[in-house]
Parts: sequence; structure tokens; C-alpha cells
Amino acid sequence: MRELVQKSSCIFFFLVISWSALAQTKTIKPNEPCKHIVLYYHDILFNGTNVANATSAKAANATKLGDFNFGMLVVFDDPITEDHHLLSPPIARAQGFYFYDMKDTYNAWFAYTLLFNSSEHKGTLNIMGADMMGEETRDLSVVGGTGDFFMARGIATFRTDTFQALL
Ligand SMILES: *[C@@H]1O[C@H](CO)[C@@H](O)[C@H](O)[C@H]1NC(C)=O
Ligand SMILES: *[C@@H]1O[C@H](CO)[C@@H](O)[C@H](O)[C@H]1NC(C)=O
Ligand SMILES: *[C@@H]1O[C@H](CO)[C@@H](O)[C@H](O)[C@H]1NC(C)=O
Ligand SMILES: *[C@@H]1O[C@H](CO)[C@@H](O)[C@H](O)[C@H]1NC(C)=O
Repeated sequence: MRELVQKSSCIFFFLVISWSALAQTKTIKPNEPCKHIVLYYHDILFNGTNVANATSAKAANATKLGDFNFGMLVVFDDPITEDHHLLSPPIARAQGFYFYDMKDTYNAWFAYTLLFNSSEHKGTLNIMGADMMGEETRDLSVVGGTGDFFMARGIATFRTDTFQALL
């Protein structure tokens, strides 16, 4: 896995985002999200030559502390689609960064904005938290939103769909 991450790689995972918003307080039930959306995130790491295809790039190299990319920072502008096909029309962009911050396993800490600009959704959702890549599902926090997602609060659940190296 380290090999994949350090060379060129692409990660596809899907997010199930559940959120509630102030604008919808009347319909909020304490234990149930008032909205639910499933999205696919595609990340192709720049490897020095794949300029046309890469959607993210290493902005700081890994340190030599541990074997799990500790310290590596990746900035991304990734397409978000409604199904798992990379070439489907994107319905949003995910823009932000992640960095690896654990010595003994792969843990990417994410902070990013989902920008929606389609006829269906306009606005942003802001997501942050730890992505313990070895776990089957990871919950990150939806810390806010604008537009259609005004004052959103919720959970984004990550699940890895495909992980592949492009060598
Ligand atoms: C990269 O992008 C080019 C141009 O859009 C495309 O022809 C090519 O198939 C892509 N390569 C991969 C590996 O996705
Ligand atoms: C990043 O780290 C790798 C592995 O230690 C090394 O091979 C590579 O040369 C480094 N790249 C830069 C730009 O420092
Ligand atoms: C949203 O899409 C419209 C129509 O394509 C475009 O004119 C506008 O600049 C876009 N806004 C942003 C913030 O990308
Ligand atoms: C980078 O990725 C592209 C597309 O997958 C591949 O054709 C190319 O050989 C890779 N370059 C390096 C240096 O790994």
C-alpha cells in the first residue's frame, strides 16, 4: 500500500453524507438526519507526468518518521460524481487537502469544501476529520454549509471503493 501511495495512485471512495440544517429545524427529529446524499469522490495523484489526468498533488513530502507517509500533504481539486464512474459528469468538486498524521498506520486528515453548482444543488458543504484508511467506514464531520446547505451539520461516511496504482 505504501508503494501505491508514494507512486501515482488513484483513490475512489464514496461518501454518504447525512446532515441537518437550521433552515429545516421544523422537520428535525433528534436521531434522524433530514437529508442524505451518496457521492463518489475520485482522486488521482500527480506523478510528475500525468498532467492531463491528475486531480491532486503532493505539496509536502513525507518525512522519514514511520512508514506511513507521515507529514505528506496533498492538495486536491477532485471531481465528485453520482456513480462510481470517473468520467461521469461531476456534480460537485471537492477542494481542500489531506495530510498523513500517524506513525503506525495510514491516517489522512481531511479538510475540504464540496462545491455544488448544478441545477440540483447550489452551495457548499465543509467537511473535516480523520480518515483511518484501514477501517471499512470512517465518519468525518460536516461542520458547516452555505446556499442549499445553509448551516449544515452532519456526518460524512467514507468507504473506499477502489484503490489502484497507475504505474
Ligand atoms: C489521461 O487523459 C487523456 C486526455 O484526457 C486521456 O486520453 C487518457 O486516456 C487519460 N489516461 C488515463 C490513464 O486515464
Ligand atoms: C520525497 O520522498 C521520497 C521518498 O523518501 C523521495 O524518493 C523523493 O525524492 C522526495 N521528493 C522530494 C521532492 O523531495
Ligand atoms: C456556476 O455555474 C454557472 C453556469 O454554468 C456559471 O455561470 C457560474 O460561474 C458558476 N459559479 C461558480 C461559483 O462556479
Ligand atoms: C504517471 O501516470 C501516467 C498515467 O497513469 C503513466 O502513464 C506514467 O507512466 C506515470 N509516470 C510515472 C513517472 O510514474
